[in-house]
Amino acid sequence: MNWMETLDLLEKGLVRSAIKNQQGKWVAQTEVKEAILAAFKAGELKEFAGGFVDKHNLPAREFTVADKVRLVPGGSSVRRGAYVAQGVIIMPPAYINVGAYVDSGTMVDSHALVGSCAQIGKNVHLSAGVQIGGVLEPVGQTPVVIEDNAFIGAGAVIVEGVQVSEGAVIAPGVILSKGVPVYDCVNERILEPGEPIPAYAVVVTGNRPVSANLKWAQEQGLTLRCAMIIKYKDSKTSAALTLENLLR
Ligand SMILES: CC(C)(COP(=O)(O)OP(=O)(O)OC[C@H]1O[C@@H](n2cnc3c(N)ncnc32)[C@H](O)[C@@H]1OP(=O)(O)O)[C@@H](O)C(=O)NCCC(=O)NCCS
Repeated sequence: MNWMETLDLLEKGLVRSAIKNQQGKWVAQTEVKEAILAAFKAGELKEFAGGFVDKHNLPAREFTVADKVRLVPGGSSVRRGAYVAQGVIIMPPAYINVGAYVDSGTMVDSHALVGSCAQIGKNVHLSAGVQIGGVLEPVGQTPVVIEDNAFIGAGAVIVEGVQVSEGAVIAPGVILSKGVPVYDCVNERILEPGEPIPAYAVVVTGNRPVSANLKWAQEQGLTLRCAMIIKYKDSKTSAALTLENLLR
C-alpha cells in the first residue's frame, strides 16, 4: 500500500491505524502507520491560503453537506488521512490529526486534540480542552483508543497508548499516561500496566503516598498523582451526563 492510497483509505474509514483483534485486544496496524510516515517523508513544504505552510500532501480536509459532519467555523482543522464519520460534531478550535479515526455521533468540543492515529469510538464525548495523544512512532505502538459511548471530561489528558473501554467516564482534569497508576477502589486492585480502563468505570483524580524508597518525600507527607475508579457508572452518573448529551 503506498502512502497516497493509504491516506485515501484512512479518510474513508476503510483502513485504520489500529484495530481490535478477535481476542478483544487493540493492535497497531504497522503497515498503515508506515505509510503515514512515508507520506511525511515524501511531503514537501507548500504554502496554503491564509499564510499556512505544511507538507503538500497533508492538507486540511474539506467537507461538504453530503459528508454529514458538522465542522463549525472558527479555526478547526481535520488533516488529510483522518477519518470522520457521519454525525460527528467538531467545535472550534479543534484539531484531528492524520491517521485518527472518529466514529459516528461523537462530539469533539472546543480546544480538543485528537492526536495522530488515535481511535475514537461511536457517541464519544470529548469535552472542551481534552487532549488525546498521538502515537505514530514506533509503528508497533498502539495508539490511544477511546471506545464507544465513553465520556471524557473537560481538560482530561489521555496519552501514551492508554485505552479507555466502552462507556467509561473520565472526570475533568484526569491525566492518564503510562506512569499514572489507576486504583480500582471498587474491586480493590491496581490495574496492570497497559490494562485498559474497564468498561463503565468512573475515573477521577486522586493522590497516593510516595513510594517507600523516597524516604524524605515521605517524611514531608508528599503525595503523587494517581487515578481512581471511584465507582462504576450508575443512573446517577448517567443523569450527571444527560445535559451534555442534550447539547449534541
Ligand atoms: C465524573 C462525574 C460524571 C461523576 O458523576 P456521578 O456518577 O454523579 O458521581 P458521584 O456524585 O456519585 O460521585 C461519587 C464520588 O466521587 C466523587 N467525585 C465525583 N467527581 C469527582 C472528581 N472529578 N474528582 C474527585 N472526586 C469526584 C464524589 O464527590 C463522590 O464522593 P463521595 O462518595 O465521597 O461523596 C461527575 O462528577 C463530573 O465530573 N461531571 C462533569 C462532567 C464534565 O466534564 N462536563 C464538562 C462537559 S464540557
